Amino acid sequence: MQNPERFLITGGIPLHGTVVIDGAKNSALSIMAACLLTSEKCILENVPQLKDVYSMIEVIKTLGVKVEWKENNTLYIDSDDFNNFEAPYELVKTMRASFLVMGPLLARLNKAKISLPGGCAIGARPVDFHLKGFRALGADIITEKGYIQAEVKRLKGNDIYFDFPSLGATENIMMAASLAEGITMIENAAKDPEVIELGNFLNKMGAKVNGLGSDIITIEGVKRLKGVKYRIIPDRIEAGTYMVAAAITGGTVEIDNVNPSYLKSCIVKLEEAGIKVEIKEDDNIIISNTDAIKSVDIKTMPFPGFPTDLQAQFMALMTIANGTSIITENVFESRFAHAGDLRRMGADIKVEGRNCIIKGVKKLSAAPVMASDLRGGAALILASLAAEGTTEISRIYHIDRGYVRIEDKLSNLGAKIKRE
Ligand code: UD1
Repeated sequence: MQNPERFLITGGIPLHGTVVIDGAKNSALSIMAACLLTSEKCILENVPQLKDVYSMIEVIKTLGVKVEWKENNTLYIDSDDFNNFEAPYELVKTMRASFLVMGPLLARLNKAKISLPGGCAIGARPVDFHLKGFRALGADIITEKGYIQAEVKRLKGNDIYFDFPSLGATENIMMAASLAEGITMIENAAKDPEVIELGNFLNKMGAKVNGLGSDIITIEGVKRLKGVKYRIIPDRIEAGTYMVAAAITGGTVEIDNVNPSYLKSCIVKLEEAGIKVEIKEDDNIIISNTDAIKSVDIKTMPFPGFPTDLQAQFMALMTIANGTSIITENVFESRFAHAGDLRRMGADIKVEGRNCIIKGVKKLSAAPVMASDLRGGAALILASLAAEGTTEISRIYHIDRGYVRIEDKLSNLGAKIKRE
């Protein structure tokens, strides 16, 4: 049975105070997978204690890897003698990012059997780019009974071009190519901070990855990689969500442990919407809002464009803006499930293909709503914080995948939020 927990949120209170951002979920997930590339122990610090991280721990434990939490957010990963190359459906279906073990499995064990992830609430999300990349590196791949089975004698470097700068495919191929024979060049690679972090982690292990942050990444394969200690960067999407929380409630919130340079597109859009953004230090941003919110148009794009993972939260903000805004989703074809629930709260939103037309209303009002996915769920929390009355959000297990103790962090800022 799915977890029946729900949030009860009474809106209308401007948030005030400081919120400390946890480690980046998506960076932790790929770096955890990369630990499989060495037989030596790796130590990861600032790992967020999230459902998705626990899912990845399950996946790599199933493969035979030893994982242990030390202190609060430090993870020890020991991939010395793991020998299972199969990631089963029960685990992969709970989290697509499990697919990131494929590159390390092919590199270490020359074999992988991984359940096909299937579709999800935000779009079809195929893995064809990943497979095209592994084939280019010499893997024989067949799909049978819902599983991808791949084998290779030894991976060999090659040139790979992606039709779209896929974050996951870039990461998977970077990991595999690090232990391949010869040089791999990825063209139209993803430029996201999480890709750069994975590359930095691999280089610390002894890999030779160049071009990080550009759209051509080259990887010169090495014979072996060593165990290292590494600190996970702050989560830019969690930070962006709290920035919107301050803006939508008309409050003032200091966001601590954040990298402003990874949030440029979000900062620019908040400023265009009339929100005051003050970058106090390298790792600290203050968001304040006392005026009416202005409508702005948003187009999601691969990094450094506006992140699709903040689209839903900005839609919540635009529901009470002055004027009409258009949000265009260019990354995932059907990532608007939250629009229907926002409408239940009084928002005026029309979905037309990849576009949403949002006419700002004076006020949102409480209604029973349901989270359909992680970021859409976060958008419903944001809308509830601004709405009149007490909103009940169900299916909050989606939200727990990506936000550490969200009710505690919001309560500390003065919000009235309760988990039931
Ligand atoms: C990652 C993030 C996710 C974020 C997304 C886009 C993790 C664990 N997840 O997901 O939070 O929303 O990047 O920034 O890091 N595509 C294909 N074929 C493929 C791979 C991707 O067609 O083989 C398409 C996807 O359907 C999508 C686009 O490429 O339309 C970008 O997806 P991608 O960057 O791969 O997303 P993920 O890595 O799955």
